[in-house]
Amino acid sequence: MATIRLPGLIDAHVHLREPGYTHKEDIHSGTCAALAGGVTTVLDMPNTEPPTSTPRRLREKVDLARAKSVCDVGLFVGATVADLDAYLPAATRACGLKIYVNETFGSLRIEELGLLHRLFRTWAARAMELDGWRPAASPATSLGPIAVHAEDLMVPVCLSLSQLYNVPLHIVHVSRRSEIELIRAAKGRGLAVTCEATPHHLFLSEEAYKGGGNRFDMRPKLAAPDDVAALWENLDVIDIFATDHAPHTLSEKGMAEEPAASSEQATMPGVPGVETMLPLLLTAVDAGRLELDDLLLRCVENPRRIYALPKQPQTWIEVDVDAVHTLSDEMTRARCGWTPFAGAQVKGRLEKVVLRGETVFDGEQVLAAPGSGRVLFQDGVQ
Ligand code: DOR
Ligand code: ZN
Repeated sequence: MATIRLPGLIDAHVHLREPGYTHKEDIHSGTCAALAGGVTTVLDMPNTEPPTSTPRRLREKVDLARAKSVCDVGLFVGATVADLDAYLPAATRACGLKIYVNETFGSLRIEELGLLHRLFRTWAARAMELDGWRPAASPATSLGPIAVHAEDLMVPVCLSLSQLYNVPLHIVHVSRRSEIELIRAAKGRGLAVTCEATPHHLFLSEEAYKGGGNRFDMRPKLAAPDDVAALWENLDVIDIFATDHAPHTLSEKGMAEEPAASSEQATMPGVPGVETMLPLLLTAVDAGRLELDDLLLRCVENPRRIYALPKQPQTWIEVDVDAVHTLSDEMTRARCGWTPFAGAQVKGRLEKVVLRGETVFDGEQVLAAPGSGRVLFQDGVQ
């Protein structure tokens, strides 16, 4: 048995589902799942109900997170067609602005070029007010990046808006060869673009969907084996590994034992993941597909730099890197109670999580009290 100590991980893409969808997850259950995955900071997405798109909604979410979270939480604000500029006064209290440019779960979607212009322009103007003039392609601003769910042709659209308005862009869950190769070219030209890949796009392909159905349905959809190979070939272009932890119940996915929906009915895209990222990545390290430093760069250092997250003092995780175990639905703490990786044999078991000097997970149980996590970017806000 070899136990190693690593920093607490950052998962820069989770859906804690509160408010609005607490039958799938809430801030307490989702942050407990995070700790059980070795994650001590999560960045929460705005496609809740109501969406986190105005200062008041952000404030309400901050209050919920202050009462319920067991790990540290940063919150995105989201752009909606109805509240287009309403995110602006809340921008400094969010980790970034999220724009959904493609179809996915929830009501947030910006599909018109004119609206996208306006969002990039207002963001750039606000960043200029706060930070003054910045040279093109300098990454950090006081507002964080604009994070986009952009697939396929929307990738070059967002890249060009980011360049035209001099706004740092983060492209979430990249899944295809055409996308990652374009991002490589953009980085080569010095554009201020970063990107992330999920464990499901790195370890699963469309073959899983063909064999297993809607348990393996998410946006972006699982891609062809050649696209998966392209992510691994271009690992140096991927700045962040993040899970897109997107819980839905099995019955909402039409996969419960007693199906609620007919197989014709559209089901909800998304899969949970915050608990399974660490063992999956450690297994890739064991198999020689990754170095441990590659993992730490993408799960700690880069997300901290890209989103300007504070360091967590006296915080670490302990992992028995030799322990072999099998992932299962039963082991999950996420409220939805399943994982797309059920049956996968992994190497590396989390034994302990220490957050600010307190043992918050002992390998079996979450010991932290609700509300012991911090909500980031709220300095001076009561
Ligand atoms: O599959 C997905 N589900 N992709 C997303 O981008 C959103 C997510 C969700 O919120 O369920
Ligand atoms: Zn997402």
